[in-house]
Amino acid sequence: MNHIFLIGQIIGIFSVSAVLIFLLAKLVCRQPVIVPDGHGYAVLITGCDSGFGHQLARCLDHKGFVVFAGCLCPEGAGALSLQSQSSRNLKILKLDVTSDHDVQQAKKTVQENLPERGLWAVVNNAGISDWAEIEWSTIEDFHNMVDINLFGSIRTSIAFLPLVRAAKGRMVFMSSIFSFFYCLNMGAYSVSKRGVEAFADCLRVEMASFGVKVSIIQPGNFGRATNIVKMKTAYDIWEKLDDDRKQRFNQQYIKLANEYFLSTTKSGFKDADLVINAMLHAVTAANPKHRYLLASSMDMCFFKLLPFLPTTLTDAVFTLSSMYNKRKEMLYAK
Ligand SMILES: NC(=O)c1ccc[n+]([C@@H]2O[C@H](COP(=O)([O-])OP(=O)(O)OC[C@H]3O[C@@H](n4cnc5c(N)ncnc54)[C@H](OP(=O)(O)O)[C@@H]3O)[C@@H](O)[C@H]2O)c1
Repeated sequence: MNHIFLIGQIIGIFSVSAVLIFLLAKLVCRQPVIVPDGHGYAVLITGCDSGFGHQLARCLDHKGFVVFAGCLCPEGAGALSLQSQSSRNLKILKLDVTSDHDVQQAKKTVQENLPERGLWAVVNNAGISDWAEIEWSTIEDFHNMVDINLFGSIRTSIAFLPLVRAAKGRMVFMSSIFSFFYCLNMGAYSVSKRGVEAFADCLRVEMASFGVKVSIIQPGNFGRATNIVKMKTAYDIWEKLDDDRKQRFNQQYIKLANEYFLSTTKSGFKDADLVINAMLHAVTAANPKHRYLLASSMDMCFFKLLPFLPTTLTDAVFTLSSMYNKRKEMLYAK
């Protein structure tokens, strides 16, 4: 009897201790920010000519970080306005993420201008987007997308990782909902962003032992808040098709699909605050999240459910759209 009582007591003490340790850990985790201001720390951001990268660079500059702002066109309007609106701590670097030479030159500049606490974070933000059905695309379309969005992030990460590891800092990757949400027209983009997430996930596991934290940002539709939407007409798409494809596809459908795509992007967020706040959190919080999913409340419910639903059901969601049915009737019809 005494035995049972003793075992009961031990189990009780263990449980209470476990709960206390858990609560204590939660309290410690609540420390909001590890870098209260950025003084003494540097951050490298790619794709700062416009959009999220541009805005993040300005925010981190205001927080006192030394910002190395990678720009595709350092003499362009975006880079010039960024420089003029920032402190002298923000340095514009020429950085085409598809170029080994640019990345190595950028690394040299960063190393020569590092503040005392080193390179705290790399934000792999540079990217492009486009839409096309897979059957309309060429292998070059896929190469171009993957070269910038995926290999650009890998190239930059490999080059700067030793500096970030030395600072026990942060690696942040710009992904998208299209890394897990597969739908019409986003084949090349989805391939590139799913690759980015695979790379970031593997990096997170490898870097955990060295105190480097890795975060993935997954924005939904922020097409109106940045320059990401590639404006093109149905004629542009049509003219890219070779004769064989022109025989197969219906020009009228392409016109309809282009209008539909552009109207969808207009329903997105008008400003980038949600994304910028998530990026800031990933760079400065004591406990950044592994993933930041950023979408409207309705979309959030669907995306949270998505991994648990059978593929047959998630594929069937598209059949609810009137556009999907029109496509079935019109796509190949002349
Ligand atoms: N906006 C959205 O709805 C959304 C949603 C999900 C994910 N994202 C992702 O967010 C990231 C930032 O995009 P954004 O929306 O801010 O669009 P954005 O305004 O077009 O910004 C992308 C930036 O990347 C630059 N860039 C393009 N090719 C490059 C290269 N080869 N090397 C270096 N920089 C390059 C662009 O330069 P130029 O301006 O000179 O072309 C631009 O500054 C991208 O990775 C994108 O896929 C955006």
